[in-house]
Amino acid sequence: MATKLAICASGEGSNFESLVIASRAGLLQAEVVGLICNNPKAQALERAERLKIPAKIIERTDDRAMLSQLIEWQAEWVALAGFLSKVGPSVLERYQGKIVNVHPALLPKYGGKGMFGLKIHEAVLKAGERVTGVTIHMVESEYDQGHILAQKQVPVEANDTAQRLADRVKQKERAFYPVVLNDLVLGRIKNH
Ligand code: GRF
Repeated sequence: MATKLAICASGEGSNFESLVIASRAGLLQAEVVGLICNNPKAQALERAERLKIPAKIIERTDDRAMLSQLIEWQAEWVALAGFLSKVGPSVLERYQGKIVNVHPALLPKYGGKGMFGLKIHEAVLKAGERVTGVTIHMVESEYDQGHILAQKQVPVEANDTAQRLADRVKQKERAFYPVVLNDLVLGRIKNH
């Protein structure tokens, strides 16, 4: 039986949807058991409804509620996909080495507190970087820390705006995240 994966998202949810589609297509050998969302207005919730994935809205600080939900779903892995909040201590302890995140830059550059959304791509452009990309990494108590599992480069183009760059990076994320997660759950890459 496929391992069970819960996904946490706060916004648009395009990565959430791409993980569900990859799972249903057999490209990601994990069953998506539910979506945890800390924003009642998130588009991710509409996607969950359309895709018939159970969704639970949990306050950003409610670490215990998040843990209970993950246990109820019998999740073995947790994938953050645009989850704008820190994972609390109970979840981190119970799911040590089992929580993964996608970040739209080449960490350790352009990560940490305050580095989210267009701010990341604005900073990349301001620094005159020629290349940015996607990082898939294990989650620890601080933002964007943790063992890097894989990275994919995206060239910065001469006429890029932060929005254009964000769109191209996200397109790459949606293809790359399911592949790396699949390798991880199948034990083809190590989580440390
Ligand atoms: C992605 O760029 C992801 O890397 C970052 O947040 C964004 C989420 O996008 N952590 P979406 O909600 O999956 O469309």
